[in-house]
Amino acid sequence: MTHPPRADWWKRAVVYQIYPKSFRDVTGDGVGDIRGITDRLPYLADLGVGVLWLSPIFASPMIDNGYDTSDYTSVNPLFGTMDDADELIAEAKKRGIRILLDIALNHTSTAHPWFQNALAGGDKRDWYWWRDGRCGAAPNNWRSIFGGPSWTKPDGDDQFYLHLFDKSQADLNWESPAVRAAIHESMRFWLDRGVGGFRLDVVTVISKEPDLRDVADPRPAPLYRHIAGGPRLHEFLREMRREVFAHYDCVAIGEAPGVDPARAAKLVDPADPMLDMIYHFDLVAMNPVTGGDWDRRPFKKIFTDWDRGIGADGWNSVVVSNHDLGRIVSRFGDEGRYWKESAKALLTLVLTQRATPFVYQGDELGMTNCPFTSYDDLDDVWAKTTYRLKREAGADHDAAFAAALAMTRDHARTPFQWNDGAHSGFSDVKPWLPVNPNHATLNAAAQAGDPDSILAFTKALIALRKSDPLWIFGAFEDLAPDDRDVFIYTRTFEGRTATVALNLRGADARVTLPDDSVMLSNYAGPFAHDALRPWEARVHEASH
Ligand code: NOJ
Repeated sequence: MTHPPRADWWKRAVVYQIYPKSFRDVTGDGVGDIRGITDRLPYLADLGVGVLWLSPIFASPMIDNGYDTSDYTSVNPLFGTMDDADELIAEAKKRGIRILLDIALNHTSTAHPWFQNALAGGDKRDWYWWRDGRCGAAPNNWRSIFGGPSWTKPDGDDQFYLHLFDKSQADLNWESPAVRAAIHESMRFWLDRGVGGFRLDVVTVISKEPDLRDVADPRPAPLYRHIAGGPRLHEFLREMRREVFAHYDCVAIGEAPGVDPARAAKLVDPADPMLDMIYHFDLVAMNPVTGGDWDRRPFKKIFTDWDRGIGADGWNSVVVSNHDLGRIVSRFGDEGRYWKESAKALLTLVLTQRATPFVYQGDELGMTNCPFTSYDDLDDVWAKTTYRLKREAGADHDAAFAAALAMTRDHARTPFQWNDGAHSGFSDVKPWLPVNPNHATLNAAAQAGDPDSILAFTKALIALRKSDPLWIFGAFEDLAPDDRDVFIYTRTFEGRTATVALNLRGADARVTLPDDSVMLSNYAGPFAHDALRPWEARVHEASH
């Protein structure tokens, strides 16, 4: 079977991820909303991004903030109405921006009518994974990714249901053709309304070996590796392509925990279409200590491994930060002395790869992790589960809170810092999560008129990327893979080569750089050919 060539706007665009709950509240309830996104389209258009990926906007009890969906074809009233969604899609389109929806199809909320039907023993019982216990205990040894057992036995039921995440997120049984048909219909519903595609949550784990046997190591990473790429994954994705994506000008981006570049390459092989782009976990899983003396070599190697592994035919994404992680500058950069330089250097890295770059809301300002002081200020179900399990294991409050703080996803979810106002211009009332106190100086308004700001630099990088196909398609090569501190790479396209040099440490570095003139840097000239200043980033002009 031959497939028509697909449009490739999604290779050329910069994706900007919006966490709707935290972006902009116009309705005055302390929670971000869809109209808030529409309201800020001029800001986003000015930034130059071409795709907005919205974390889930569907109806949900919000235990995992929408990744626990209770109706795939509705809009969560917390975020607005279907009219608001239609308006956002239309207004974004006028500015050449496409809306991408995040959809969690591995599981539904237990509040979903499908699960409620299954729970009541209805005709949808087999839409989920139900198993008898083993001597009263869970059917296998899998642990929930969030901690604790991955099986729950509802009161009054004699079986357990599987949940890889929270117990409120029951895994759908994709073996059922009816489940798959219902999912396809939900996706077509949104594509017919004009969305530009989907980010498919943890899509690599949708197919499970039906015997659901024990694993040697049930912790999250090995469990992901065990389940990912299950026996019918390719079949399910080909079917989804045929039933859904093939009929629209859209993009299908798979969040892909547990797969290496070789397995991922199969999922994005244009000769056997399943997904268009992979969102891998190697960078997501890295958690170095801020400003610490971590080894940059494995970090750099991830870029090379994925670029080589996916090849020039498939397509990759660069995701270094998102709603599940600490802020990019807090994880990999330096929040203190070199805050501005390191934020700009990391954005240079993200925006000059051969892969679609993903910028998470606030990264363009250098937003940092939040100094939470109270457990009550946390919202993340994963952090709260971590706290509870620590307490159950005997830890005191301080130790359990420290453990929750170290991993909480709330760092990325604090309200967007629009200005220095009481609620950072996010809302007129107290927001659902505290505002980072540094909004007094770190905010969009303060950076808007400043040509040296991180915001101005991000705009320049996005404009650079759009100015020359070399930045989209040019071959990537790491020139100094063994260097502990610097990342120097080239992008080559149709006989022209451009060099990017990044000092990923807050100390001077010795290097050898080309004579080409510098087009963009986070430092002012003159530029030495044999040295980089702390966190210096340079993009050299392409030459033959
Ligand atoms: C990955 C999402 O990014 C995360 O936020 C969510 O909790 C899990 N998948 C479960 O849906």
